[in-house]
Amino acid sequence: MPQTKGTKDPNDVVQLLLQQHVRIRTLFEEVATTKGEERKERFHELVRLLAVHETAEEEVVHPFARKNIQGGEHVVKDRIDEEEKAKRALSALDDMDPDSPEFLDRFAALRQDVLAHADAEERHEFAHFNEVADRSKLERLGRAVKAAEALAPTRPHPGTDSAAKNIAAGPVAAVVDRTRDAIRKVTGTT
Ligand SMILES: [Fe+2]
Ligand SMILES: [Fe+2]
Repeated sequence: MPQTKGTKDPNDVVQLLLQQHVRIRTLFEEVATTKGEERKERFHELVRLLAVHETAEEEVVHPFARKNIQGGEHVVKDRIDEEEKAKRALSALDDMDPDSPEFLDRFAALRQDVLAHADAEERHEFAHFNEVADRSKLERLGRAVKAAEALAPTRPHPGTDSAAKNIAAGPVAAVVDRTRDAIRKVTGTT
Protein backbone atom coordinates (compact mmCIF):
# COMPACT_ATOMS: atom_id res chain seq x y z
CA MET A 1 0.00 0.00 0.00
CA PRO A 2 1.44 3.42 -0.91
CA GLN A 3 2.44 5.49 2.05
CA THR A 4 3.09 9.16 2.49
CA LYS A 5 6.09 10.27 4.50
CA GLY A 6 5.23 10.79 8.13
CA THR A 7 1.81 9.11 8.12
CA LYS A 8 0.57 7.06 11.06
CA ASP A 9 0.57 3.80 9.06
CA PRO A 10 0.60 1.01 11.68
CA ASN A 11 2.99 -1.02 9.49
CA ASP A 12 5.57 1.74 9.35
CA VAL A 13 8.74 0.58 11.09
CA VAL A 14 9.05 3.75 13.16
CA GLN A 15 5.44 3.48 14.31
CA LEU A 16 5.96 -0.18 15.24
CA LEU A 17 9.04 0.64 17.30
CA LEU A 18 7.32 3.58 19.00
CA GLN A 19 4.35 1.37 19.90
CA GLN A 20 6.73 -1.15 21.44
CA HIS A 21 8.40 1.65 23.44
CA VAL A 22 4.97 2.68 24.78
CA ARG A 23 4.25 -0.91 25.83
CA ILE A 24 7.70 -1.21 27.45
CA ARG A 25 7.13 1.97 29.48
CA THR A 26 3.70 0.70 30.57
CA LEU A 27 5.06 -2.69 31.61
CA PHE A 28 7.83 -1.07 33.69
CA GLU A 29 5.15 0.91 35.51
CA GLU A 30 2.97 -2.19 35.99
CA VAL A 31 5.82 -4.27 37.42
CA ALA A 32 6.69 -1.45 39.84
CA THR A 33 3.11 -1.03 41.05
CA THR A 34 1.98 -4.68 41.43
CA LYS A 35 3.03 -7.51 43.76
CA GLY A 36 3.30 -11.29 43.95
CA GLU A 37 1.93 -13.35 41.05
CA GLU A 38 0.73 -10.33 39.13
CA ARG A 39 4.14 -8.70 39.29
CA LYS A 40 5.73 -11.97 38.16
CA GLU A 41 3.44 -12.13 35.12
CA ARG A 42 4.00 -8.51 34.16
CA PHE A 43 7.75 -8.95 34.60
CA HIS A 44 7.82 -12.02 32.36
CA GLU A 45 5.87 -10.12 29.75
CA LEU A 46 8.42 -7.31 29.98
CA VAL A 47 11.32 -9.76 29.66
CA ARG A 48 9.83 -11.22 26.47
CA LEU A 49 9.02 -7.89 24.91
CA LEU A 50 12.39 -6.33 25.75
CA ALA A 51 14.35 -9.35 24.51
CA VAL A 52 12.37 -9.38 21.26
CA HIS A 53 12.42 -5.61 20.77
CA GLU A 54 16.12 -5.07 21.44
CA THR A 55 17.08 -8.07 19.32
CA ALA A 56 15.04 -6.76 16.38
CA GLU A 57 16.77 -3.42 16.74
CA GLU A 58 20.20 -5.00 16.86
CA GLU A 59 19.53 -7.28 13.89
CA VAL A 60 17.91 -4.84 11.46
CA VAL A 61 17.19 -1.36 12.81
CA HIS A 62 20.64 -0.29 14.01
CA PRO A 63 22.46 -1.70 10.95
CA PHE A 64 20.07 0.38 8.81
CA ALA A 65 20.67 3.50 10.92
CA ARG A 66 24.43 3.00 10.85
CA LYS A 67 24.44 3.27 7.05
CA ASN A 68 21.58 5.67 6.40
CA ILE A 69 21.57 8.45 8.96
CA GLN A 70 24.12 11.16 9.52
CA GLY A 71 26.61 10.21 12.24
CA GLY A 72 24.96 6.77 12.32
CA GLU A 73 28.08 4.90 13.38
CA HIS A 74 28.39 6.89 16.60
CA VAL A 75 24.64 6.96 17.40
CA VAL A 76 24.36 3.19 16.96
CA LYS A 77 27.46 2.31 18.97
CA ASP A 78 26.08 4.05 22.06
CA ARG A 79 22.66 2.38 21.65
CA ILE A 80 24.16 -1.11 21.29
CA ASP A 81 26.29 -0.63 24.41
CA GLU A 82 23.12 0.33 26.32
CA GLU A 83 21.25 -2.71 24.96
CA GLU A 84 24.01 -5.11 25.98
CA LYS A 85 23.99 -3.68 29.49
CA ALA A 86 20.19 -3.93 29.67
CA LYS A 87 20.15 -7.57 28.54
CA ARG A 88 22.68 -8.50 31.23
CA ALA A 89 20.61 -6.70 33.87
CA LEU A 90 17.45 -8.39 32.62
CA SER A 91 19.03 -11.86 32.82
CA ALA A 92 20.16 -11.18 36.40
CA LEU A 93 16.67 -9.97 37.40
CA ASP A 94 15.08 -12.98 35.73
CA ASP A 95 16.80 -15.24 38.30
CA MET A 96 15.62 -13.21 41.32
CA ASP A 97 12.49 -13.12 43.49
CA PRO A 98 10.47 -10.18 42.12
CA ASP A 99 9.27 -9.22 45.59
CA SER A 100 12.76 -9.02 47.13
CA PRO A 101 14.26 -5.60 47.97
CA GLU A 102 17.30 -6.39 45.80
CA PHE A 103 15.06 -7.04 42.80
CA LEU A 104 13.28 -3.73 43.33
CA ASP A 105 16.54 -1.76 43.54
CA ARG A 106 17.96 -3.33 40.42
CA PHE A 107 14.64 -3.09 38.60
CA ALA A 108 14.47 0.65 39.30
CA ALA A 109 17.98 1.09 37.86
CA LEU A 110 17.10 -0.95 34.75
CA ARG A 111 13.92 1.06 34.27
CA GLN A 112 15.81 4.33 34.33
CA ASP A 113 18.43 3.04 31.88
CA VAL A 114 15.99 1.47 29.42
CA LEU A 115 13.69 4.49 29.32
CA ALA A 116 16.65 6.82 28.72
CA HIS A 117 17.82 4.42 26.00
CA ALA A 118 14.40 4.43 24.30
CA ASP A 119 14.28 8.25 24.41
CA ALA A 120 17.75 8.44 22.83
CA GLU A 121 16.69 6.06 20.04
CA GLU A 122 13.59 8.10 19.31
CA ARG A 123 15.45 11.39 19.27
CA HIS A 124 18.78 10.52 17.65
CA GLU A 125 17.90 7.54 15.48
CA PHE A 126 14.26 6.95 14.50
CA ALA A 127 13.51 10.65 14.01
CA HIS A 128 15.86 10.60 11.01
CA PHE A 129 14.45 7.54 9.23
CA ASN A 130 11.78 9.20 7.12
CA GLU A 131 14.19 11.87 5.89
CA VAL A 132 16.76 9.54 4.40
CA ALA A 133 15.20 6.18 3.85
CA ASP A 134 14.38 4.44 0.65
CA ARG A 135 10.83 2.98 0.90
CA SER A 136 11.72 -0.61 0.04
CA LYS A 137 14.38 -0.74 2.74
CA LEU A 138 11.95 0.68 5.30
CA GLU A 139 9.34 -1.89 4.31
CA ARG A 140 11.84 -4.68 4.85
CA LEU A 141 12.63 -3.30 8.28
CA GLY A 142 8.92 -3.16 9.06
CA ARG A 143 8.45 -6.82 8.06
CA ALA A 144 11.35 -7.90 10.26
CA VAL A 145 10.05 -5.97 13.28
CA LYS A 146 6.58 -7.48 12.67
CA ALA A 147 8.08 -10.98 12.60
CA ALA A 148 9.70 -10.28 15.95
CA GLU A 149 6.52 -8.70 17.30
CA ALA A 150 4.58 -11.88 16.52
CA LEU A 151 6.72 -13.59 19.18
CA ALA A 152 5.82 -11.04 21.84
CA PRO A 153 2.81 -8.96 20.77
CA THR A 154 2.75 -5.35 21.93
CA ARG A 155 -1.00 -5.74 22.48
CA PRO A 156 -3.15 -8.86 22.93
CA HIS A 157 -3.77 -10.79 19.69
CA PRO A 158 -6.82 -13.01 20.23
CA GLY A 159 -5.97 -16.65 19.68
CA THR A 160 -2.25 -16.09 19.22
CA ASP A 161 -1.25 -14.95 22.69
CA SER A 162 -0.73 -18.37 24.27
CA ALA A 163 1.24 -19.60 21.24
CA ALA A 164 3.38 -16.48 21.41
CA LYS A 165 3.95 -17.08 25.11
CA ASN A 166 5.26 -20.56 24.41
CA ILE A 167 7.58 -19.44 21.66
CA ALA A 168 8.89 -16.55 23.71
CA ALA A 169 9.18 -18.45 26.99
CA GLY A 170 12.41 -19.32 28.79
CA PRO A 171 15.57 -17.48 29.72
CA VAL A 172 16.45 -14.15 28.09
CA ALA A 173 19.22 -15.69 25.97
CA ALA A 174 16.84 -18.30 24.52
CA VAL A 175 14.24 -15.68 23.60
CA VAL A 176 16.96 -13.62 21.93
CA ASP A 177 18.09 -16.65 19.87
CA ARG A 178 14.55 -17.48 18.72
CA THR A 179 13.90 -13.87 17.81
CA ARG A 180 17.09 -13.70 15.77
CA ASP A 181 16.09 -16.85 13.86
CA ALA A 182 12.61 -15.47 13.12
CA ILE A 183 14.05 -12.19 11.84
CA ARG A 184 16.67 -13.87 9.69
CA LYS A 185 14.00 -16.01 8.05
CA VAL A 186 12.09 -12.88 7.07
CA THR A 187 15.10 -10.91 5.89
CA GLY A 188 16.74 -13.86 4.14
CA THR A 189 20.03 -13.51 6.03
CA THR A 190 21.72 -16.38 7.81
FE1 LIG B 1 17.00 -0.41 21.80
FE1 LIG C 1 13.97 0.56 21.25
